[in-house]
Amino acid sequence: MFGKRKKQVAGCDIGSSAIKLVELKPLKNGEFQLQVAAIAELSPEAIVDGAIMDSSLVVEAVSRLISENGVKNQSFGGSLSGHSVIIKKIQLPAMSADELAESIQWEAEQYIPFDINDVNLDYEILDDGVGRENMEVLLVAVKNDRIADYTSVIVQAGRQPVLIDVDVFAVQNAFEINYGVPTETTALINIGASVTNISVMNEGMSVFWRDVAFGGNQYTEAIQRELSLPREDAERLKLGERVGDHTLQQVLGVVNSVSEDLAAEIDKTVNFFLATSNVDKVERMVLSGGAARTVNLDEVIKGRFQVDVEILNPFRNIRYNESDFDPDWLNRHASAMAVAVGLAVRTVGD
Ligand SMILES: Nc1ncnc2c1ncn2[C@@H]1O[C@H](COP(=O)(O)OP(=O)(O)OP(=O)(O)O)[C@@H](O)[C@H]1O
Ligand SMILES: [Mg+2]
Repeated sequence: MFGKRKKQVAGCDIGSSAIKLVELKPLKNGEFQLQVAAIAELSPEAIVDGAIMDSSLVVEAVSRLISENGVKNQSFGGSLSGHSVIIKKIQLPAMSADELAESIQWEAEQYIPFDINDVNLDYEILDDGVGRENMEVLLVAVKNDRIADYTSVIVQAGRQPVLIDVDVFAVQNAFEINYGVPTETTALINIGASVTNISVMNEGMSVFWRDVAFGGNQYTEAIQRELSLPREDAERLKLGERVGDHTLQQVLGVVNSVSEDLAAEIDKTVNFFLATSNVDKVERMVLSGGAARTVNLDEVIKGRFQVDVEILNPFRNIRYNESDFDPDWLNRHASAMAVAVGLAVRTVGD
């Protein structure tokens, strides 16, 4: 329909520790206005290792976010990460787009560690290789059963799941609308509760993607062990609350050593990327996810990599009324909302 604005989706990031819901309204000048930004905590049993173990808890949390925030939008966008997602850049003999469409299923088979019939396959031509021997294709495969679990939650909450994205791509979208396309080689590192999503942008293009099973849970568990505390207490302590006689100050050593472990994981991934590409260094690191706010983590990463480290603010370029959203609350939760913002910039059918 000519001239009709495309319909924005509500970005619904179903994470293992919390659901983040963001809705944006496009303005005539190309900017976005914040309509909804909200978080509902999930109990740790609801989603384990990316698998929805107790869907009623998750449906209840999504439904609560919808009703408490008066969300009218029927079209929801979600995203996945972790073991059930495979993203790979592959080289194939150069062929036409039609030929590729016909053979991709078969070509992809050798790159996907799952039965090809069990995944939803998507691809994009990165370089058509015209006049050369090979073409370059980005393959994205997501396990069907995982997609079914996540879309079913949205359906049970009474909304339509119109798209399922991948966390690393959503973070990249959130970064670009707020900071523009980077000129330096930039690693985007989204540190959640159970997974850290890492991607690298080089010369303005996304060139590498990897999920690592490490996140905020590791801090909570280390504090639990150190002080023999129940999980909830360790979590509160980590967030800076006082628990009985205990304070965060007391466990800074433990927190820093987990940050060193996380930095080592990031280092392994970055080294793998550098060894398999013609890029020789990452110049900038941008942290997001709830655990990006871990005390001193940015300093630990800066120390290890000797690069600029900053924390992504996905609301940097987004307009909002201070009477609708408390700037303090937004600031505190901004890093955790990166994926949801990256989903909310998408439109139905894009
Ligand atoms: N101020 C803070 N300091 C330290 N950790 C924090 C802080 N705020 C949140 N976190 C941690 O961030 C994590 C939640 O981040 P996020 O919402 O990005 O994860 P998620 O999407 O639920 O998890 P995943 O994507 O791994 O399934 C939790 O481990 C939480 O304890
Ligand atoms: Mg997450």
